[in-house]
Amino acid sequence: MTEPSHRCACFYTDNIFIEEYQLHVSFQDVQQFTRDYGRTLQSKGCRGAEKFARVLETVKKEVQRRQNLAGESLRRKAEISLYYKPLHPEVYVLKESFLTEEFLEAVRICKSPNASLESLLNNLHPIPDKRIYCFPVFVPQFCRDFVEELEHFEKSHLEKGRPNTMNNYGVLLNELGLDDSLITPLREQYLCPLASVLFPDWGGGSLDSHKAFVVQYSVDKDLDLSGHYDNSEVTLNVSLGKEFTDGNLYFSDIKEVPSNERTFIEVEHTIGHGILHRGQQVHGALPITSGERWNLIIWMRASSVRNKLCPMCNKEPQLVETIGDGDGFTVIKNDNGEETVDVCTLI
Ligand SMILES: [Fe+2]
Repeated sequence: MTEPSHRCACFYTDNIFIEEYQLHVSFQDVQQFTRDYGRTLQSKGCRGAEKFARVLETVKKEVQRRQNLAGESLRRKAEISLYYKPLHPEVYVLKESFLTEEFLEAVRICKSPNASLESLLNNLHPIPDKRIYCFPVFVPQFCRDFVEELEHFEKSHLEKGRPNTMNNYGVLLNELGLDDSLITPLREQYLCPLASVLFPDWGGGSLDSHKAFVVQYSVDKDLDLSGHYDNSEVTLNVSLGKEFTDGNLYFSDIKEVPSNERTFIEVEHTIGHGILHRGQQVHGALPITSGERWNLIIWMRASSVRNKLCPMCNKEPQLVETIGDGDGFTVIKNDNGEETVDVCTLI
């Protein structure tokens, strides 16, 4: 018998950026840190015990902050569920009436025995050579109600977590209680079948967790999003509204392609439409020039893929048990109670 898998994260100690010396580091203990970065820091001007101790303190604080994230999120979620009264309770539970006929048809094709990429191309709009697919996901009424719900929450006095390190404005859908009844069924019943045909080589058929959030752009908040890749195997980005001008998305190649060999294309994002892409494909958002824009982002993760190689640090993941879904990695205990990373699911 195999015990249930544990959700784990691997980013507590990796990819810590020391701004003062423009250096990315990882931290296990003082000895490792001194050995790995002592000389580099010296060469960048961090000389003397006092300066080094200050850097060490900053790095330790960041590790501590990351370790506290899941617990703080859980506390906010509990408070929201106690005190927040939704404006549109109906948007919290997924119904087929939220989804467009084109999207439903594409999913039906994917679930049929002879599903193939070719059979889908009339329903999805592929961007040549980039493996990006654009298609209508939500009907206009749902987009309006959903944005109204999020605005209503934003106006509440309750404490809010922010989506990620790059977006300052938005809502974490898990904290608002939208994961279990809206996003999880959307992933399991609709997006996973689609991704199994479009991205079988990225764990598309075994997307077993996600992180979902809404990001907000406006002229007095965040305007754009610089080039990056996601902490996901497959990402869905849906434009929810409201009214805005410019702000196209742009896509390049997988992050392993050297930057001087990458080519970029711009994609216009229509309200209600989703763009499905590989998380490791470099992309960003150009600045909007007026109005306000809300986007739903779902980072979908396949533990069968990331358990072998962490997509953010490109190393075998060093896992730490966490609360919730963590970063989508899993550890499974075998018959002898030993923890082994589950690598038996083939993609
Ligand atoms: Fe992204």
